Amino acid sequence: MQRLEKLFTSIRIGSTEIHNRIAMAPMGTLWGESDGSVSQRIIDYHTARAAGGVGLIIYEATTIDQMHPYMPNGTGLWDDGLIPSFRKLTDAVHAHGATFIPQLIHPGPESLTFMFGNQPVGPSALMSHSTRQMCREITVEEIAVVVEQFGQAARRAREAGCDGVEFHAAHCYLLAGSFLSPLRNRRTDAYGGSLDARLRFPLEVIRRMKACAGADFPIVMRISGDEVMPGGRGIEETCAMVPALAEAGVDAFEISGGVVPTLSWRMIPPTGTPFAINRQQSAAVKQVVDVPVLVVGRITDPLVAENILRKGDADMVVMGRALLADPDLPRKAQDGRLDDIAPCIGCSIGCFGRITQLQPLTCTVNPTVGREREMALAPAARRKKVLVAGGGPGGMEAARVAALRGHDVTLYEKESGLGGQYTLAAIPPHKQELGRAIKYLATQVEKAGGTIVLKTEVTPDLVERTTPDVLIIATGATLVAPKIAGLDAAHVSTAHDVLAGKAPEPTGRIVVIGGGMVGLETAEFLARSADNPYAEQPRVTVIEMQDAVGVGLSGEARVLLLRRLAESGVQILTGMQVTALSAAGLHVVPTAPGATSAGSGAAHDGDGARVLSVDAVVLATGVQPADALARELAGKISEVYVIGDAKTPRLALEAIAEGAEAGRQI
Ligand SMILES: Cc1cc2nc3c(=O)[nH]c(=O)nc-3n(C[C@H](O)[C@H](O)[C@H](O)COP(=O)(O)O)c2cc1C
Repeated sequence: MQRLEKLFTSIRIGSTEIHNRIAMAPMGTLWGESDGSVSQRIIDYHTARAAGGVGLIIYEATTIDQMHPYMPNGTGLWDDGLIPSFRKLTDAVHAHGATFIPQLIHPGPESLTFMFGNQPVGPSALMSHSTRQMCREITVEEIAVVVEQFGQAARRAREAGCDGVEFHAAHCYLLAGSFLSPLRNRRTDAYGGSLDARLRFPLEVIRRMKACAGADFPIVMRISGDEVMPGGRGIEETCAMVPALAEAGVDAFEISGGVVPTLSWRMIPPTGTPFAINRQQSAAVKQVVDVPVLVVGRITDPLVAENILRKGDADMVVMGRALLADPDLPRKAQDGRLDDIAPCIGCSIGCFGRITQLQPLTCTVNPTVGREREMALAPAARRKKVLVAGGGPGGMEAARVAALRGHDVTLYEKESGLGGQYTLAAIPPHKQELGRAIKYLATQVEKAGGTIVLKTEVTPDLVERTTPDVLIIATGATLVAPKIAGLDAAHVSTAHDVLAGKAPEPTGRIVVIGGGMVGLETAEFLARSADNPYAEQPRVTVIEMQDAVGVGLSGEARVLLLRRLAESGVQILTGMQVTALSAAGLHVVPTAPGATSAGSGAAHDGDGARVLSVDAVVLATGVQPADALARELAGKISEVYVIGDAKTPRLALEAIAEGAEAGRQI
């Protein structure tokens, strides 16, 4: 396709030729075997991405030292006995023409060494924000051991058939990234202080890897272009250091950004942050080195990727979450089928959010991640007539999958458009990307042959008339108003109605009751509308019974949302309960003595019982299943699936996953 011609040209990194310019970012999965070897699940997951057309796979963080594990069920190359399992993975990926390099790491300060009862090591003694452990300063003798471990791991990678390795030294993180950053390297010996001294350890690693694996064995080095942190390494210093690294043997640089301790949103940027966030930095690095430069960070759209290459801001683009959302993105892009790409919406709930809770990795828009074998689509044994009630994400996914399998599917939606509550979720500031997932699903239901009927509520009568074999109930949830005196007043509305524009625009002093995801995002929506010169300046307060607000958001999205709310002057009161709404105002009391704000990251202004003056109240107090249809039709249809919020109110992630399951079970 003419528009994407640069993306699909080949490129060389050192001695290795890569068939296009799309790379998959390293992403920890927690799916390794307990001995550090690669599992069949990991092989299936990567095979799907290689078959989907990605040029280069940079395989997840792979540890070089058994005594310094990075994650439970992480994989490693610390022993020759691990070579055969990596050989299987490499062969599987090569069979589809992709190039494969593992990312070698020593976790350093982030080591989970408590599993072995010893202390993590770092360039200097410091606490890891992610593991909450103190590390000790690594000795010069120990540095020599680690350098040798990197060398041997690179040799093993070569013996396993890998096409090179990536050396992880980004994000002021793990051992090498910490050595490179002035924030974590406070040493006064030959390995710390000046830039040259901070470079000493990475340079020794690079030279040793080349010596052990061969001078022609490619090394890609992942670094932060800019740490974007006071006292951290800026882009000027990065540009000053890369020539020496290239001289020592680095065959390509992969440019990420940010540091782990407080800026992880720059590393894994959530919905609403800029696309291609490290593009300027990769362009700067390209000015000072002759080797290829790769760029990572919220590149989700092939057209943006093409533009980066055409402008010369990087030589390859690296995609992480976009390839979780759709393993076939490269092939679809090459065929010009952009509408068929399942879009990453940057929510990070299923991927990074799950990993940080040590739960299996998944993806909101693609529940087949890591389940490629068990969830492969098989044609239906018998074509059935399937009625889907509800056009939210879960209903659409169920309809899409059932239609793809050959069933006769009709989806009914009572509103005039598809999306359900997800349409409302896409309205608050920074959330518009969710609309891409709705558009994708709606397009795919029709492309798969499903029929969509809008403005039609499914009733028992409609079911009786249309005689389906299978009924999928995906009718979502409705807001629950708490039973509190006065909340039936005219100036009280629901968050759903406010976002949908069905309630009059609240003005004046507004209190949002409920500090979950919906409450906070609605508060931001209301605070932002203060920019509107025609609206009266609202003063927005959020009241939450619990200690924490924004539960359900991914860590990075929550940090940014709380910051934006604070900047917009939104007041958050946690540990407070509403007891009544009267002419005097909203009556609130603490839920428990001293329960306000602790650990919530939210601002509060005291904790006694009080009456808040209000002009408008918005309810974001939770939802209940809209499952009347299921009750009314109980026993009348033999095959019924109740999915998503209609079953139990949760996130779109669960709704889509249950739709995917139901569509496969029919
Ligand atoms: C689930 C998950 C696991 C990750 N694991 C790693 C890792 O092992 N090593 C690493 O350097 N970066 C890791 N990252 C960061 C990604 O490589 C990438 O830099 C980041 O997701 C931004 O790219 P994207 O916007 O295309 O997803 C991980 C990200 C995610 C979402």
